[in-house]
Amino acid sequence: MVKLTINGKEHSVDVRPDTPLLWVLRDHLGLTGTKFGCGMAQCGACTVHLNGEAVRSCVTLVSRAAGQKVTTIEGLSKDNSHPLQRAWLEDDVLQCGYCQSGQIMSAAVLLRDHPNPSDSDIDQAMSGNICRCGTYQRIRNAIHKAAKLQKEGGVK
Ligand code: FES
Ligand code: FES
Repeated sequence: MVKLTINGKEHSVDVRPDTPLLWVLRDHLGLTGTKFGCGMAQCGACTVHLNGEAVRSCVTLVSRAAGQKVTTIEGLSKDNSHPLQRAWLEDDVLQCGYCQSGQIMSAAVLLRDHPNPSDSDIDQAMSGNICRCGTYQRIRNAIHKAAKLQKEGGVK
């Protein structure tokens, strides 16, 4: 059994310690907002937070997350009220949507560490998140919008 705290809830899962965290989230806990893309830390679709830092859950062993705090897209806010989620919806950023939970989880770390990011801060922080639909410009604009919302007190 591996014990994990995910989105503030404790879980015990009966898996081998070398199981990727992504499999546990999706297949054992039904948290399917986190996506499987490349499976080799190249696309960012599987990004979640481990103790507040963005990690690729496809290459993070569940044993590394044992006893730690994991946050997935489902736990970013209770009601889609995180400034990034609000900005994403207002700007209609998604196309197919497949990459977007990973994009938002990476952007959340960026905004926490750089509340007023420049274009180059954004490009650097988001460079590991690939979007096959090419929504990069809309993502960048939405991050700027979210920074404004956050400044106005939009974090709930
Ligand atoms: S699925 Fe993990 S980085 Fe692509
Ligand atoms: S919105 Fe389709 S891959 Fe990014």
